[in-house]
Amino acid sequence: MTQDDFGDRRARARARLDAIDPHKRPGGAEADPFRRDWFEAVYELAGDDPAGVPWAGLAPHPLLAQWLAGRSLAGLRALDVGCGLGDNAEALAAAGAHVTAFDLAPRAIAWAQRRFPQSAVTWRAADLFQPPPEWRGAFDLVHELYTLQALPDALLPDAAPALASFVAPGGALLVISRARDAGESVAGPPWPLTRAQIEALAVDGLRLETLEDIPANEGLVRHWRALFRREGDK
Ligand SMILES: C[S@@+](CC[C@H](N)C(=O)[O-])C[C@H]1O[C@@H](n2cnc3c(N)ncnc32)[C@H](O)[C@@H]1O
Repeated sequence: MTQDDFGDRRARARARLDAIDPHKRPGGAEADPFRRDWFEAVYELAGDDPAGVPWAGLAPHPLLAQWLAGRSLAGLRALDVGCGLGDNAEALAAAGAHVTAFDLAPRAIAWAQRRFPQSAVTWRAADLFQPPPEWRGAFDLVHELYTLQALPDALLPDAAPALASFVAPGGALLVISRARDAGESVAGPPWPLTRAQIEALAVDGLRLETLEDIPANEGLVRHWRALFRREGDK
């Protein structure tokens, strides 16, 4: 299989997925406000071809890999939110964390398990907006990459307390997302986040510790990388 084949299949998949995207047709957003049916359809239609999953890079995201470089997460309890095919969860585990990774789509979870059969990651099908109660305050590092930007703006005020709820005292939330300026029009999905949307994730005892505005470079568009912390002893 060549890269061109992969690129062609991905382009065809994008067109197929755009055609059924609830936010690209009248009444669709009301019918599927959380986009759950669409996310499920992505993995179902992809079968076992990762080209069919538009965000599947089949490697840890470079901005996560860079953040992890030289950093040990030994012994930390980490949660990967909306883990997709699992590469970022595996990178967190390789850095020493005890990782739980979850996705709304059971097919994504089954696929991640097939891809990483020796994995130490605990894989779970779960919904960010209805998480298992035992996850409250249970993680030293919560990692979110590209799930918020895949959700309509209207869901972000509910996503923020959901993410914050997972963070243990002394723990952190790491968010990596595409960036846009306030007022910049965008024809999502994805819907890159504004600075204000990132800052609005500092809720329920989380404080914004660092916010990097990472300019477009080496094939990557502009991104935010934000670290939030909850006061307290680990
Ligand atoms: C854009 S993808 C990013 C996947 C992964 N983080 C990555 O970077 O490869 C967003 C993922 O979030 C999942 N997702 C969407 N809504 C969710 C929800 N409410 N709870 C949990 N996962 C969700 C989707 O199924 C999808 O796998």
